[in-house]
Amino acid sequence: MSLEALRAELTGLELRDDDATRATYGHDESDQGDFRPELVVFPKDTAEVQRVVRACNRHRVPLTPVAARTGKSGGSLPIHGGVSLSLERMNQILAIRPEDLTATVQPGVVLADFQRAVEAVGLFYPPDPNSAPTCSLGGNIAENAGGPSALKYGVTRDYVLGLEWVLPDGELVRVGRQTVKGVAGYDLVGLFVGSEGTLGIATEITVKLLPRPPVVMTALIAFTDVLAAARAVNAVLLGGLLPRCLELLDDVALAAVAGKGVPFPAGAGAVIIAEIDGTTEEGVFAELNLLASIASKHGGLDAQIAVDRDQRERLWATRRLVSPALRELQKYKFSEDIVVPRSKVPEAIERFKAIGQALGLTVATYGHAGDGNLHTNVLYRSPADRPRVELALEQLMKETVRLGGTLSGEHGIGIAKKKYLSLEQSDQLIALQRRLKVLFDPFGLLNPGKVFPDESKEQ
Ligand code: LAC
Ligand code: ZN
Repeated sequence: MSLEALRAELTGLELRDDDATRATYGHDESDQGDFRPELVVFPKDTAEVQRVVRACNRHRVPLTPVAARTGKSGGSLPIHGGVSLSLERMNQILAIRPEDLTATVQPGVVLADFQRAVEAVGLFYPPDPNSAPTCSLGGNIAENAGGPSALKYGVTRDYVLGLEWVLPDGELVRVGRQTVKGVAGYDLVGLFVGSEGTLGIATEITVKLLPRPPVVMTALIAFTDVLAAARAVNAVLLGGLLPRCLELLDDVALAAVAGKGVPFPAGAGAVIIAEIDGTTEEGVFAELNLLASIASKHGGLDAQIAVDRDQRERLWATRRLVSPALRELQKYKFSEDIVVPRSKVPEAIERFKAIGQALGLTVATYGHAGDGNLHTNVLYRSPADRPRVELALEQLMKETVRLGGTLSGEHGIGIAKKKYLSLEQSDQLIALQRRLKVLFDPFGLLNPGKVFPDESKEQ
């Protein structure tokens, strides 16, 4: 690899290789370890992205796109070194078109900034992986981010209409469309969204928007135990309601945020956060009351309703704290995002706790129970516990697949789950996807070592 020759080709671009920058770009929020790039490049427009990609191709240097480094599966870690291509400088909202209900943004736009901008004109962009103040749209595209409102509104892929996309050889293509409907050709937007930085780089993103529901109300419902809460989640959906969110927090998650945010009812062994939106106060309030009465038939103890924006924001701020607070409980953790069919959520929670218990590990479960998408976290105190933790994770993944589920609902496979992919997908299917990767990236330079099991030790 010739990094010096590469640098010479990139004169005029912002390049950094000081230790502090390399350390910053060497980690994310996946706890997968420290993998420093040799060089970090900060292009400010599409043409500069193309220059970097072409130069890396010519010099056969691995290139890893990176957005806001909030990823949970190690997708943006440059595990083979080389260049990290940061999209942070490309942070302009290019257009919001209220009449078309669409917007076009650059990949470095921070999600909360975008949400505020569309809300200011009465519109709504639902996908939010619970890190809106820090994550950016480019990362949301790479991992096909979901979040609490996916229950009613779907995930990032459901909103992306078109992409300006730099291919792994530096060519530029526009895929998809600017209209809400469109079926011309293959669905390359569908392929690229969620491709974890392995098939190209989004330099412009056109998304659809929705009218902003004027009324939103949120209820916090306590339960004595997590299984009752999980069964209540299913009962709500079977009861004919489709809330915007149906989140679950178990006793460990509650203990993690105790004293840090909104107080939870004393004696709660689990809570559900349910949110309903709509057009009238009366309608939304009536639906929330119906939801609370279904929950109370299934062991719900007490429902507190947050009606104004402030109360809701405090509740969601506490919910956003769960992930970092769990890490503080025992210093280390692995945060999974498995999905099982909704009917299997109670069984999955029970099985995961039992796996933890048998190995002497604390397992926390929280997340988007309404989608069957659980953030099962395995907590541990020291790197010496890693072998037991690995065993727990493998059992957890096997159990998920046995229950008819999938390894990742929103964080991506990255490096964190690549060794488990063959538990879920056939060799034939993995081989087909590898062929696609080779078609786009014959030299295997773009975000190498991600998604698929290492071929030498395929399991
Ligand atoms: C959440 C992130 C971890 O839902 O997906 O909090
Ligand atoms: Zn989540």
